Amino acid sequence: MISEPGALEELPRLGLGLGLRSTHFDHILDHWPDVEWFEAISENFMDSGGRPRYVLDQVAERYPIVLHGVSLSIGSTDPLDRDYLAKLKRLAASVNPAWVSDHLCWTGVLGTNSHDLLPIPLTSETLGHVAARVMQVQEFLERPLILENPSTYVTFVDSTIDEPEFLGALSEQTGCGLLLDVNNVYVSCFNADLDPVSYLDSFPCDRVVQMHLAGHDHRGNHIIDTHDRPVVPAVWELYRLAWHRTGGAATLLEWDGNIPDFEECHTELLKARSFMGNHSEEGRAPSGVNQGSGPESLSTPVDFLVPDVMESAVLE
Ligand SMILES: [Fe+2]
Repeated sequence: MISEPGALEELPRLGLGLGLRSTHFDHILDHWPDVEWFEAISENFMDSGGRPRYVLDQVAERYPIVLHGVSLSIGSTDPLDRDYLAKLKRLAASVNPAWVSDHLCWTGVLGTNSHDLLPIPLTSETLGHVAARVMQVQEFLERPLILENPSTYVTFVDSTIDEPEFLGALSEQTGCGLLLDVNNVYVSCFNADLDPVSYLDSFPCDRVVQMHLAGHDHRGNHIIDTHDRPVVPAVWELYRLAWHRTGGAATLLEWDGNIPDFEECHTELLKARSFMGNHSEEGRAPSGVNQGSGPESLSTPVDFLVPDVMESAVLE
């Protein structure tokens, strides 16, 4: 099993990447754009032997690939879906991703898939439940699992552990890595009336191997994680801090609704360069994946639609 803490340090630093979306297939095959890596939604490709899979194979020959799933349902009380895991493992064996990720959530129960990434109560009991399942997944896949903080719209009165602490304990107990979705931090904290900078202050950034950026829909008294527009300035500022704290973890722009042409997505992604400060040349600390350095100033202090996978909206 590849889940020892040191295993995360061996994962590559990929730089700036984009989600591999079908609307961009032709452009990518025609131009082989100067993108550092692509993230593929696992479910879009694990059942397809047609054009999507052909494109993924072509892309995987030329770029680093990461597989990002939305159906693992690691928080559910249903047994782990062995058929799903087997398909995921076969896909991973074929395209050789840098890592495989999913979300800290549940997507259904009693065999029903809600196609939503639903939050779990954060308690010592659910921590033990999820940790045991992460260990099973890692043993089956024979690689570390990377789990993402979800965007949330509710909190549970039964929760006794803050999300950063929960994810840190989960990573420590299982050796799993973390995907820090900076937009999700902003969305969840706004919806729960929490301070996103304080959230980042307590996040186990030394376990982060990847970050997400995305746009959201601010409805005044709540935010919906829509991934259908550019990243807002406040999230960029939060990313500046997250970049420093994680020592420059791989960064992926998610754009899943009202997807513009490839060049516009790429231009939005490259804005990240201006928020990297002077820390992009610094390496990871020997004691962990990243540096986890101290506070720095922040001027100001939701995943999304997967149209290729399913008809209903999926909130990451
Ligand atoms: Fe995300």
